[in-house]
Amino acid sequence: MNQTNSNTGPIPFDLLPDSAEIGSRGELLIGGIAVDDLAAEYGTPLFIYDENHLRSRCREALRAFGDGAAYACKAFLCLAMARLVHEEGLHLDVASEGELHTAIAAGVPGERIVLHGNNKSLDELSLARVHGVSRVVVDSYDELDRLSELHSHDGVIASVLLRVTPGVEAHTHEFVSTGQNDSKFGFGLASGAALAAVSQARSNPGINLVGIHSHIGSQVFNVESFARALEIVVEFSEPLELPELSVGGGLGVAYVESESAPSIAQWGELLSDTCQRLGVKARICAEPGRSIAAQAAITVYSVGTVKELPGIRTYVAVDGGFGDNPRPMLYGSGYTAFVPGRVAEPRPAVARIVGKHCESGDVLVREASLPNGVGVGDHVATPVTGAYGYSMGSSYNRIPRPAVVFVSNGSARPVVRRETLEDLISLDVE
Ligand SMILES: Cc1ncc(COP(=O)(O)O)c(C=O)c1O
Repeated sequence: MNQTNSNTGPIPFDLLPDSAEIGSRGELLIGGIAVDDLAAEYGTPLFIYDENHLRSRCREALRAFGDGAAYACKAFLCLAMARLVHEEGLHLDVASEGELHTAIAAGVPGERIVLHGNNKSLDELSLARVHGVSRVVVDSYDELDRLSELHSHDGVIASVLLRVTPGVEAHTHEFVSTGQNDSKFGFGLASGAALAAVSQARSNPGINLVGIHSHIGSQVFNVESFARALEIVVEFSEPLELPELSVGGGLGVAYVESESAPSIAQWGELLSDTCQRLGVKARICAEPGRSIAAQAAITVYSVGTVKELPGIRTYVAVDGGFGDNPRPMLYGSGYTAFVPGRVAEPRPAVARIVGKHCESGDVLVREASLPNGVGVGDHVATPVTGAYGYSMGSSYNRIPRPAVVFVSNGSARPVVRRETLEDLISLDVE
């Protein structure tokens, strides 16, 4: 491993799940269990979630937003996660029929679910009505028409928030920036579309308009962006005298050593202060996803190949890749890495950690700091992979999707089993 390394210390614990601790052999424990033991039992790649970390972030959101708190399921969802979030008292924000089905199958009642999506089908809207979903966040005139059509058949009146775009740049990656005027999401405030949508919704017998929703983007570090968006939205929403105002999600999290992010509590405080200053009477709702799930998990891989390219770099190839973490490839997102069995050791070596998919862009960590001597068969882990990893993953190259385990207080429970080769051909028709 022949590059210079500016970041040679051990992995900082503030990038690891809350329960992370060092065992007697210098190994990482999460939820009281050695990560290497979990990898041996469940195989790699493996997502390991600290269940108490997830619960603690849910509670923080509940303290910040009260009954207005929802978890954005797109960040990470499975039956166990839906149950955990529901047990902790948050609503579930779902953005597709599949997410809705998962929440319902987990036993979450419709009245605790909010339906999102910029292109909801009649089937999605119908399923939501069958289960009595509490809120539909409407994104287009076509959707207003669909709700009207459904109402003419079933008589159900949908409680609706209208999603508006405030025209605010969130200073995040273009692909996750959603509050600007040029957006596929919502009704523009500046263009007058939002006002027209309010009047259409109000004259639609199938709709009970209860609020306005906006979401400026994801992985936003600068909380001032939220305050600025709120000022613009409130100028529009307060005169409407609606009972609810949703600020969406989007709070950023630190992925690497050089980043730091506000907590959910600080985000809530800023929004609450801003609302107080603006004299907002509506109940504030929020939908954090990443800030609840991201730092709760790490992904553990096994090293399969190490290639030293003299004078160029060292490639460490692991048994996963962009199929379990597409964020580096999609957004150029930075990650860091460590060896769970040697968590307290300095990391003087540098390598590029790559996956096993047939793409040169299948890079997990461009400049990973690692302890010296990492070789074939070792475990390497990336922290902060609990959001938009498993949920955004794929089985490209027909590489089976990893397993997911929840750990807490010395015990582990698998919550998603590893995909099998048989699963991979189970949809194919002979
Ligand atoms: C409407 C909406 N709400 C909430 C979220 C969750 O955002 P985050 O995971 O960044 O908190 C998203 C993410 O894109 C979203 O589109």
